[in-house]
Amino acid sequence: MMPAKTQGDTSWFVQDRFGMFIHWGLYSLASRHEWVQSNEKIAPEVYAARYLPHFNPTHYDPHEWAKTALTAGMKYAVITTKHHEGFCLWDSQYTDFKVTNTPYGKELLASWVQAFREEGLKVGFYYSLLDWHHPDFPIDVYHPLRDNPAVAELNRARQMPRYAEYVRNQVAELLTRFQPDILWCDFSYPDNEYKGLPGKGHLDWESEKLYALIRSLNPRIILNNRLDLPVGAADIYTPEQVQPSEWVKVDGKPVVWEACQTFSGSWGYHRDEESWKSPGQLIRMLINSVSCGGNLLMNIGPTSLGTIDPRALAALKVYQDWMTLHSGSIYGCTQSEYENPQDCRLTQNGEKIYVHVYAWPFKTLRLPGLAGKVEYARFLHDGSEIQINPPAWEAVQLQIRPDELVLWLPVKQPNVVVPVIELSLK
Ligand code: GLC
Repeated sequence: MMPAKTQGDTSWFVQDRFGMFIHWGLYSLASRHEWVQSNEKIAPEVYAARYLPHFNPTHYDPHEWAKTALTAGMKYAVITTKHHEGFCLWDSQYTDFKVTNTPYGKELLASWVQAFREEGLKVGFYYSLLDWHHPDFPIDVYHPLRDNPAVAELNRARQMPRYAEYVRNQVAELLTRFQPDILWCDFSYPDNEYKGLPGKGHLDWESEKLYALIRSLNPRIILNNRLDLPVGAADIYTPEQVQPSEWVKVDGKPVVWEACQTFSGSWGYHRDEESWKSPGQLIRMLINSVSCGGNLLMNIGPTSLGTIDPRALAALKVYQDWMTLHSGSIYGCTQSEYENPQDCRLTQNGEKIYVHVYAWPFKTLRLPGLAGKVEYARFLHDGSEIQINPPAWEAVQLQIRPDELVLWLPVKQPNVVVPVIELSLK
């Protein structure tokens, strides 16, 4: 299966397959979800007054972050330059609500971009279309002031076109200053009306204008799909907190796609969140994406000090250990032309097929459609040969179908989270 050609340069993206998402902002101080301001209905001035004077990531070392991403097998990273709270990680000339006005006093984004590029990673910018701080952003369903009795009055002074211009100015600023490889705009909700307050979509963001601006500044940048524009505008589709079970299609046609996921339930640092995913789940999410022709963008939420939570580091170590031996079944791979065997997921890179075994079977693994097509089989984790076809006596009893290739496996599962068998096609 092949998605249509994209305007943005996705050629590296569909090879690299695995990236790091980074959610970092004032909400890292609250440490109870990046939506804390909306969830707890904290008025913008109160939020700014509470958190701005305390943001001071004294332990921030972007080279350390980049190395951590790299050793986990990630090839690109996307950072929140501004999340819904409106706080900017760079020294934007269009607002005072930014990192340079915190005790930290310096810009974070420039050093981040530089460090990640120096370590060889591609860089992407998440940019929130929502802005709960900007005085021209009309109060709506997600805004912290949505239940304020004076909401109609408050909204009267708010001028969406002025806000849309602010967005264009900031996006232009980001693209010109840093030339990111990906722009990840978030998000549209045109139909989410709340007590008479309309949602927001392309007419509000003036997405057509924004889109033209983005392409004029960098025609080859990878743009995601959350601007509420017609099919064809976006280069990548971004299912969130779900794993598709087949290639993502839009209007029936396969598209370039990337699942985004968290280690636990929150994107921003969340001290008390306990739903951390198991090593098996983490590895299978990556495999599931690639076996359906997609990428995985796995998120960390650094603390306000600039450190990475030990639980997140442990999860990244799971990827590191597995990817050290198995990255061959991920990089440059895509959905296989063959059917997934029972309890397995396939990926393929040209003449190599990778069988990811999710539940270790007893001695035999049946591969439909592959009879007579495989020249050699081996484990990725130790390079050891796997015998094609069981011994004659077992073969008779197994009643092998003519189209099936049967692999003869060790009884014990190898000691890796998900074992992978590489098949070399004839
Ligand atoms: C959502 C959430 C957000 C998160 C994003 C990541 O739309 O609003 O907090 O940043 O998804 O995909």
